[in-house]
Parts: sequence; C-alpha cells; structure tokens
Amino acid sequence: MLRSIAMPRDSKNWDLLLTDANVATMVEEGPAYGTIRDAALAISDGRIAWLGAAGELPEANITQTRSLEGRWITPALIDCHTHLVFGGNRAQEFEQRLQGASYEEIARAGGGIMSTVNATRAASAETLLKQTQARLQLLRAEGCATVEIKSGYGLNLDAELKILEVVRELARSADITIRSTFLGAHAIPIEFKNDSDGYIDLVCAEMLPAVHERGLADAVDAYCESIAFSTEQIARVFETAQARGLPVKLHADQLSDGGGAALAAEFSALSADHLEYTTGGGIDALANAGTVAVLLPGAFLTLGETQLPPIERLRDKGVPIAIATDCNPGTSPVCSLRTTMSLATSLFKLTPEECLAGVTRNAAAALGLDEDRGTLATGKRADLAVWDIDHPQVLSYWIGTNELSELYVGGQPL
Ligand code: NIG
Ligand code: FE
Repeated sequence: MLRSIAMPRDSKNWDLLLTDANVATMVEEGPAYGTIRDAALAISDGRIAWLGAAGELPEANITQTRSLEGRWITPALIDCHTHLVFGGNRAQEFEQRLQGASYEEIARAGGGIMSTVNATRAASAETLLKQTQARLQLLRAEGCATVEIKSGYGLNLDAELKILEVVRELARSADITIRSTFLGAHAIPIEFKNDSDGYIDLVCAEMLPAVHERGLADAVDAYCESIAFSTEQIARVFETAQARGLPVKLHADQLSDGGGAALAAEFSALSADHLEYTTGGGIDALANAGTVAVLLPGAFLTLGETQLPPIERLRDKGVPIAIATDCNPGTSPVCSLRTTMSLATSLFKLTPEECLAGVTRNAAAALGLDEDRGTLATGKRADLAVWDIDHPQVLSYWIGTNELSELYVGGQPL
C-alpha cells in the first residue's frame, strides 16, 4: 500500500513495513527470545529502521506494507563454523569407525583429514565450487544468511589458495554473506610428516602472508590437538595473523584437554570451538577474554563422543555459547543448522532459546559481526528469517522440517 500523502517534512521514509508479526529480537535483555508480540518492523536502505509493538508505530512514508499474518520474525540464521569446501567424502572411514576404529587411529594411519586433503588437491576449482554451492544452498534454504567457510584441506600454498578462491567466488556470487577463514594449520601434511615445525614455518612465512595479501581471509583458525599442532606452534600462527590485523579462532580441546581454550583466550580469539575436554581454567580464561564458545553437536554425535562440553560451567561464567554445523566430511557430515539446533538440545541439553541465540546473536559474535547482525534492533542489517511457526521453540524441536517462509538479506527478500 502506498501512503505518501501530506506527511510532515521530517517524517520517516521506509521502503518496507512488515506488520502482523511476532518478533524474536534475540536481544539479551528483556523477555525470553526478546519477544515482541503484535509487532511491526520497518526496513529502510537495507537496515531496520523501526521495530516495536504495532500500537506504537510512528507516522512514516511507507513504500510498501506486507502483513505476515502472525508469522514469526527472527534474525536470519548464521552458521559460524563450517568446512564447506572439500573434495570427495569419507563414508568409508565412517563405516570403519562404526566397526571400532577411532578417529585418531585413522588419522595417524594417514586417513582422516589427509584423505580429504588428497581428494581436495585433486579436485578442480570448478568441481569444488559446484559441490560447495549445493551445500551452501541447503543452509540458505533453511534460513542462513551468513555462513563461515574455512580452508584447511589444501595444506600447501596452491591448494589453500584454490580453496580460498572458491570461497571468494562463492562470496561474490551468492546472495548471502560468506566469511572466509584460513585454516592452514589444520593437519600436518604428508610432505612434513616428521617436521611439523617446518610446516608451521611455511604457514607463517609464506601461506598466511600470501592469503592475506590477496585479501582471501577474514580470520585465521588452527587445530590444537595431539594429532595436529601444539599450543606453541599455534601461538606462532596467531602472532603472525595478529601482526597482520587478522582475528583468530581455534579448534580447541576436541579430543583431549590440550590447553586450547586458554590459548584462544590469551589471543583474545573471536571463538574457541568444540571444547569437549576444556576444564575450569580454560573456561575462566574464555569468560575473561569475551571469547565465544562454539559447540558442535554434529561432530560430537558423529564421533560417538561421550565427554560433554562443560555447558554448566560455560553458563555459570557467562561465556556466550554459539552452535554450528561444523559441516565437514570427516567428523560432521551435517548440512543443516536446524538439525544442529535439535542436536544441541538433545545431546547438550541447551534450551531452545540458547540454541536460537547460538545461531544468531552468539554466532554473529563468533564472527566479529555482532555490531551488524545476529539480533534485531534499529540500525542493524535487515537480515531476517520469517517462519511459519507458533513459537520459536519449534525451531529446535522438529528434525527435518523447514518452516522458513521468507528470508530477507540486507532488506531484500530472496
Ligand atoms: O572441526 N577437528 C578438526 N577439524 C574438523 C574435522 C576435519 C576432518 O576430520 O576432516 C572438525 O571436527
Ligand atoms: Fe571444524
């Protein structure tokens, strides 16, 4: 409906007004889910221009008004930890694990991450692009408007650049936001089998600078584990990243307590991810540093892990908790953030509200994007998911359904 007649000169100009909505703003203060019932939300220049109870709507010039007929608006979802670009798959290894082989045993025998590295090195950029687009489409179809993608299956300069260039092409061509993370220190490549320090030298002296100079990464990640890299080695990578102004994040304490959380905190990392084996000191350090804990229930499930991340203590200390798919062919063949939310309730006993905060507000913080997105408030990007649901707890309840009705990215309906 067009209403542009005789408005006062200082009145607001809105491109779109969504009415008859229930809104879960996911702001931390106030009611559960930051709920506003019978709400309206106005968009102008891709941002939220006004949000509140319909009864309090101010006068405005409105180009278009749409009734949502009681549907719910939440912040568009954010998958803050994926390894979406990879060649091949590891279904055979999955079957080996079902028969009793452990993830570490397979990795030490040259399988695991290295088998995906071989397949990824062998794949063309075109193939990787096409396969990743299909996976990205699954995430987008269930309401993700921001997806982080890590490299880490190249492990030499050319192959890491190939992966990150695929990510850049996805970022250019996709209608959602892609964030790129350089994960050169993901595993020790075969060429450096007995010389992991030598590989870290290469990461710091050649790979990271080349990635940074080409503008191919928004952040730098590493894998801190006995089958990967030590805290000392990762500290070198993080120092190199920070000297170039790149924020860091860490795969920490997934299979053992290797001091990963404390290391992440020491470098004021955006996030420390996995955390199954993190203990007290690490949690305190995360809390003090304001580092987000990213929990990955898909990997916990797939690895048949029994050691739960320290949820209670993270909560007690006020560490923000995000959840993510960790989509990768080895430990988390999961391409659904909605399923991940459900897994986080059943495996980790997160509440449905914590799950939604984990894929909106806290996921935004894990990417350093919380100024801009992850909650709904005036001035934030209008990245909105509209759902055909009667309450947002439904989003962590069903497995395999898709109640997404519309996705707005930067104010534009997709
Ligand atoms: O997040 N932990 C290390 N990296 C991945 C697994 C990668 C793989 O097994 O291919 C993860 O679980
Ligand atoms: Fe991961």
